[in-house]
Amino acid sequence: MTALSGRDLLSLNDLSPQEVRELLELATQLKSQKLKLRCEKVLGLLFSKASTRTRVSFTVAMYQLGGQVIDLNPNVTQVSRGEPVQDTARVLDRYLDILAIRTFAQEELETFANYARVPVINALTDLEHPCQVLADLLTIQECFGDLSGLTLTYVGDGNNVANSLLLGCALVGMNVRIAIPNGYEPNSVVVEQARAISAGKTEILITNDAKAAAKGVNVLYTDVWASMGQEEEASNRLPIFQPYQINDALLGLADKQAIVLHCLPAHRGEEITEEVIEGSQSKVWDQAENRLHVQKALLASLLGAK
Ligand code: CP
Ligand code: NVA
Repeated sequence: MTALSGRDLLSLNDLSPQEVRELLELATQLKSQKLKLRCEKVLGLLFSKASTRTRVSFTVAMYQLGGQVIDLNPNVTQVSRGEPVQDTARVLDRYLDILAIRTFAQEELETFANYARVPVINALTDLEHPCQVLADLLTIQECFGDLSGLTLTYVGDGNNVANSLLLGCALVGMNVRIAIPNGYEPNSVVVEQARAISAGKTEILITNDAKAAAKGVNVLYTDVWASMGQEEEASNRLPIFQPYQINDALLGLADKQAIVLHCLPAHRGEEITEEVIEGSQSKVWDQAENRLHVQKALLASLLGAK
């Protein structure tokens, strides 16, 4: 059992390498049903952006632990009418045992966490998607065993998923290459945080050259070229990102045993082709399933489930 009781998970940088390893181990035990944990608490989901996987996997995880969930859609709360985050946080704190928040600015999440005493989980912000990357690491571990020394190449937009992958790979001793067009780099503060975690022990490469970055790697990963909140830019981005598509040619450069990951939802024909996402090297459905197991481990750990 990890000892995250009462903590927040706002960034992957909130976890130590040991804590990540323990969470993955706990998720593995829960997935295999060798371990069963109970926790009759209440989780609030406060999501200002759309979600299928995160919303449903958190809900099912909490139900399977014996807890309950309240879906706090901002449109049906006073949040949409402008009630300050500080006030909402202090009130919800009195009712709920834990909160998962999906929003735009990381600063809003941090303000929420500062005013709520209960654990707050980042369920995606513009800056990070830590729960996704914990599930990604579990998926890679299931495919390859030891994570340390593996190389992951992410191609596409330097977005929230890319930022969390930089931190996650550094925490588990994996090399990470981010191949992006100029002007779409991952967050510079996060890159420095990843370099600090790695302390020169793993490769952290930011490059424009997707083909060179894909050569011989164990994991190829991509995400949408325009994230939620960037819909207006989507059509302008298409020609810029075309060289960063995961297709058969790019996959052919990776190691023969390489796996392909995508956090989903995917835009077939844009960041990934139909052939690759439906191909034998794609592990995207296992990856989506693992959101449930890793978040159950996270909830159990933050709530001190027994
Ligand atoms: N990958 C992911 O977070 O999916 P949802 O947006 O559907 O939650
Ligand atoms: N980068 C994407 C991830 C969706 C799960 C977004 O933020 O929209």
